[in-house]
Amino acid sequence: MNQHARIAPAPIPFIDLDAQRRRLGPAVDDAIARVLGHCQFIMGPEVRAFEADLAAFCGARHAITCSSGTDALLLVMMAKEIGPGDAVICPSFTFCATAETVALTGATPVFADVDETSFNLDPQSLQRAVATARSLGLSPKAVIPVDLFGQPADHAAINAIASAENLFVLDDAAQACGATYRNHRIGTLGDATATSFFPAKPLGCYGDGGAVLTDDDKLATVLRSLRVHGEGRHKYDCVRIGVNGRFDTIQAAVLIEKLKIFPDEIAARDRIAQRYSAQLADVATVPRLSESVTSVWAQYTIRLAQGRRDALAAALNAEGIPTAIHYPKPVHMQEAYRRFPLAEGGLAVSERLAEEVISLPMHAYLDERTQDRIIEAVRGALCG
Ligand SMILES: Cc1ncc(COP(=O)(O)O)c(C=O)c1O
Repeated sequence: MNQHARIAPAPIPFIDLDAQRRRLGPAVDDAIARVLGHCQFIMGPEVRAFEADLAAFCGARHAITCSSGTDALLLVMMAKEIGPGDAVICPSFTFCATAETVALTGATPVFADVDETSFNLDPQSLQRAVATARSLGLSPKAVIPVDLFGQPADHAAINAIASAENLFVLDDAAQACGATYRNHRIGTLGDATATSFFPAKPLGCYGDGGAVLTDDDKLATVLRSLRVHGEGRHKYDCVRIGVNGRFDTIQAAVLIEKLKIFPDEIAARDRIAQRYSAQLADVATVPRLSESVTSVWAQYTIRLAQGRRDALAAALNAEGIPTAIHYPKPVHMQEAYRRFPLAEGGLAVSERLAEEVISLPMHAYLDERTQDRIIEAVRGALCG
């Protein structure tokens, strides 16, 4: 036997939900047990309690929970009666759900490019996308800025264009619950905000879930109706065509407990991101936050010269360190979305980022030893 055979390092998780469970102790089990006790499994009392907590946390008048982040986006599109002949501008460097909900209504997603540094919607490309939509005979109705990887988009610039062009602003904050822009938490940065509680999200539950945040009382009333089959005064009174977008009580019970520790987790994520950046800035392009924003670091994503990331991923994998590519193909290049129009001037930044980005493990329970192991492995692979 080769005495010098190297023992493979223990693999580390990309996101450690187990460590979070240990931190929460019996709180989540007890919360779930209470729901098992009262048996109101859908839209039970915990749902209303969590909605109040979330609205207060985000500083929004209303939090309307629903079955997923995708449904949160869709419900708003439906409430605004967006449909055939309408255009909704979306960035292409995002998860497909952003544009999917537009297409589901029969409206046309018009793809805009993103900013080279923040990876978020480029306001100039948004302006060009509005012109593209008009030149195609479409009515531009809304814009969906995405707060990608947990960092708020350039909301002031986007809102200024939206107000000049009469666009509704639906903030896709699926990845950014808890992030701030000019000292305001996401939830009030657009006319409505959609977020996701998918387990891997910074504020994740133990299944699917989502919410819409808004200050608009009328919109909130319509959303509450749409998520329960368009109900009116009661369950068997249908006043509009809706969906089954209800939220599970057990998930709300889990989130009530998780929200209590969330500010602490956001601070931990931020410390880890700062540490990564301080030690990797000389070997890779590390994330740079825009002015007056904080990120919840849904992903910690670095950028490498084209052709280098596969070797980095392989080297890290050999060390038991997982990586992920968010996203290998911009949405406008996906088979299902190729037929939709692009902003004048093209989407060169989105296309380039898809070739150059790679995400490292990120969660609030990544201890310094593990961080060092990741940092050393990245440096070794890129400098070696
Ligand atoms: C930017 C973005 N929008 C929308 C969604 C959809 O959220 P959900 O998975 O909860 O439907 C996601 C989820 O990954 C997302 O990242």
